[in-house]
Amino acid sequence: MASEKKLTDKISRLQDELDKKNRILSSIYKISQKLNRTSDSAQLLKTILHESRKIFGFTRAIILFLNKEENSLETKYCIGFTPEEEAFSMSHPLDMDKHLCLETLTVKQNKTIYIRDMEAYARANDIEKKMARRWKRVSNISAPLRINREAVGSIGGDRTHEKMVLTGSDIRLFSYFASLINIILENARLLEQNKKRMTQFISLQELSQKTSSTLNYGQLLNIVAGNATKLVHGSSCALMMPDDKGRYFRIAASRGYEKINTDLIRIPANRSICGFVAASGKPTWVEDTSLESAYVAILSGVRSQLYVPLVSNKRILGVIRVDRNSKKQFSSDDQEVLEIFAGHASALVENALLYEQILEQRNLAQNILESAPNGILTIDKNSVLQMINRKAEQLLKVKRRNVLDRNISTFLPDKMIEMVSDAIGYGKDYRYDEITMNSKSGMPLIYGATSAILYDSQGNINGAIITIQDLTQIKKTESMLWRTEKLSSLGQMSASIAHEIRNPLASINFNVQLLSKKISGNSYTRQILDDTLEGINRIKSVVQRTLDYTRELNTSLRCERIDHVLEDAVALVQHKLKERSIVLDMSFSQDVPPLLIDSHQLQQVFVNLLLNAVEAISGGGTITIRGKKEYDADYGNTARGFLITIEDSGVGIVPNNLKKIFDPFFTTKQEGTGLGLSIVHKILEQHKATIDVKSFHNKGTIFSLRFPLSGQED
Ligand SMILES: Nc1ncnc2c1ncn2[C@@H]1O[C@H](COP(=O)(O)OP(=O)(O)OP(=O)(O)O)[C@@H](O)[C@H]1O
Ligand SMILES: [Mg+2]
Repeated sequence: MASEKKLTDKISRLQDELDKKNRILSSIYKISQKLNRTSDSAQLLKTILHESRKIFGFTRAIILFLNKEENSLETKYCIGFTPEEEAFSMSHPLDMDKHLCLETLTVKQNKTIYIRDMEAYARANDIEKKMARRWKRVSNISAPLRINREAVGSIGGDRTHEKMVLTGSDIRLFSYFASLINIILENARLLEQNKKRMTQFISLQELSQKTSSTLNYGQLLNIVAGNATKLVHGSSCALMMPDDKGRYFRIAASRGYEKINTDLIRIPANRSICGFVAASGKPTWVEDTSLESAYVAILSGVRSQLYVPLVSNKRILGVIRVDRNSKKQFSSDDQEVLEIFAGHASALVENALLYEQILEQRNLAQNILESAPNGILTIDKNSVLQMINRKAEQLLKVKRRNVLDRNISTFLPDKMIEMVSDAIGYGKDYRYDEITMNSKSGMPLIYGATSAILYDSQGNINGAIITIQDLTQIKKTESMLWRTEKLSSLGQMSASIAHEIRNPLASINFNVQLLSKKISGNSYTRQILDDTLEGINRIKSVVQRTLDYTRELNTSLRCERIDHVLEDAVALVQHKLKERSIVLDMSFSQDVPPLLIDSHQLQQVFVNLLLNAVEAISGGGTITIRGKKEYDADYGNTARGFLITIEDSGVGIVPNNLKKIFDPFFTTKQEGTGLGLSIVHKILEQHKATIDVKSFHNKGTIFSLRFPLSGQED
């Protein structure tokens, strides 16, 4: 009977053993399945805790990790704990030095510890007394978790209601579970590392992509700051750039500095870590800012920092500084990655700087060109326009968008095309050449042009530069001065001649009149005397007009309507118009301003001009008079003066005479004295007005008079 019982017991023990082995196998199978399928280490760790609790019949199971910085063991996962126990465990890390308990011991000694009788153990070792009482442990087992053989935490299980009897193979099995956790931890670490490398790689990639699309210095620095922060998981980052003399660093771009005005920050180079890094060209990191004397606090809460210089061609461009809000945070890994990154970034920053400088220089050159008082054009060797400045647009009356990249033959005057082809084809430049162009209004425009040859770096002819100067006004002034000078010298001479003639003429007149009284009856002699008297009278009138012309004008200017003066002048010549069947067409714009004029003298001007017009027309014709304000497009469309044109449909003036018509005594008329236009000129001069003439043979003549505005138009 007894042996039968023994046998049954043995069978049941074997059965238990077998069951346990089965449970273990199915647990291991479950875990390995999960290991293959999931990379979620938290889930895996929890599964291991559950399975080990099931197999060993733990009351509680726990995983703790070592926090090196705090030198403590912190609960990561636990099962079988009451909510209070769990809360307590989570909020009370075990101090590695102060808490001498099984868990800290396991990590310190880096080996598995199994205590079957905790009470006895605590009594004997004075360890765990408090712990044993708090947790009411009867038995406990704890194994180290390792990364690279170094203990980084522990897994433990205890039993509270009865002793936990573990065999040698049980303990080995538990250690095996711990080693599974090590694999998971190692995997998780590798995964984390991979992830980190991946983000770093992506950041590098991103940077090169983003920067290839921007050469904008400010924008680029922002991208660099953003990516540096991401790359090493900083909480904030600043790109510190030295000033011109390298005495101070300023924040050129930043991340996480939004709350402060970075423009105001200036860090001295000789007393800061930034300055040391720039001077040595070597990266460094600060483990604990509170212990670093050279640390200059900008942001509060920064505990550790990583500094990497931006170096290009051995020149320090600046320093990347990444901050973290906890101490001992940066590793040599971070430094290495940030250095690689800084290497890329430096080249790009240098490029952007150069580009910025080039842009600045180009803008300066462009501004100079644009505001140059002369027209400037550059033309390539295929005669295609490369550049044209604003003045050249104005002078050549072209729009930049219509002529750029076009062949110059389509818009430049012939003479300039010749200059360009001489420059490009034969290397000949023109130091100065005068070119006359017709304006829309028909007034000839006189330009002075010079050409210069453009060479490439090898000294080959690469194109030409043309500069254009508007000489119209200068030429006009020159000719007016010449005219005035000529008139005044001619006037002086004629005045003295007239004076000399006047006295002898008076006695001749007297004598002839006396003779004519003495001789009577003889009609032939009388006829001669009468003709002589008529000649004398004509000489007298010429002498008088000459003297009138040469006399100093007594001009008194008053604000008056010039159209009224013209109307009076027209009234004076009305009978002549009728006589010659001439139609007069006169109209003024609405806004005729009052002008500072001497109306009496101006009446003479208009009468003279109208008489000349009348005398130029034979067999009927028209005289057209127009008056309007003239506007200047170059100066914001401000009114420049008042323009009066008098146009006739007469015989016109031959080009040769055109230059002489203002000369005193120049006349093409039998009865003319040739003083009319000289007087006109003289009076207009007193009014600071100008007169221009255009004439077309057998078609007519236009006189244009320009009066300055009085400034009292309103
Ligand atoms: N509207 C015109 N059409 C054609 N020729 C003109 C006209 N105005 C002036 N001229 C030419 O200019 C010359 C000079 O004119 P100006 O008025 O000075 O003298 P004049 O008319 O010849 O003589 P005066 O005016 O002294 O009687 C004229 O002789 C004429 O050849
Ligand atoms: Mg005249």
